[in-house]
Amino acid sequence: MEVMEAAFDPAYGEAWNRRQVIDALTMPSTHALIVDSDGGIIEPAGSVQAAGFVLTRHAADEEELLLIAVHPDRRRRGVGARLMENFFLAAGSRGVRRIFLEMRRDNPAEHLYRQQGFDPIGKRPNYYRMSDGSRVDAITFGRSI
Ligand SMILES: CC(C)(COP(=O)(O)OP(=O)(O)OC[C@H]1O[C@@H](n2cnc3c(N)ncnc32)[C@H](O)[C@@H]1OP(=O)(O)O)[C@@H](O)C(=O)NCCC(=O)NCCS
Repeated sequence: MEVMEAAFDPAYGEAWNRRQVIDALTMPSTHALIVDSDGGIIEPAGSVQAAGFVLTRHAADEEELLLIAVHPDRRRRGVGARLMENFFLAAGSRGVRRIFLEMRRDNPAEHLYRQQGFDPIGKRPNYYRMSDGSRVDAITFGRSI
């Protein structure tokens, strides 16, 4: 939650609160990976400080990346890339063949997604509502593993 609260710009209303995270994680299809500042996987609520996390939802041979975040103090050092690589390995071990995610248009995270092999495959016009009431398209990306 510390990373969640620091990582997302409130203007976009993208951060989840503790209740939403707990509810998601009670479902067996939802998975979380938490990493330290070297991008190595750590235990939730352990003694090592978290630098980033990914939350995903799995259905048959597909998995959706719901949220990915790296603490602002730890960015542009490869933590996001390592997190993504750890996620691909974990998803592969669950039998996943294809990964999807949805992103608000112009989120700089697109650079990470493209670097990690995701391609744009669809658009939902005006899908997200921002805190100021304005609307932004959602772009869907996909990648095979
Ligand atoms: C997106 C995010 C997870 C990236 O984490 P990160 O640890 O900084 O990513 P990395 O350092 O591994 O970056 C890997 C590559 O992605 C690209 N990249 C990442 N962030 C970028 C940015 N802000 N601008 C341009 N390129 C970027 C670069 O190509 C980078 O490689 P380089 O630094 O060697 O050039 C992080 O910026 C974040 O938490 N953003 C806020 C939360 C968010 O919007 N999440 C996505 C929606 S759920």
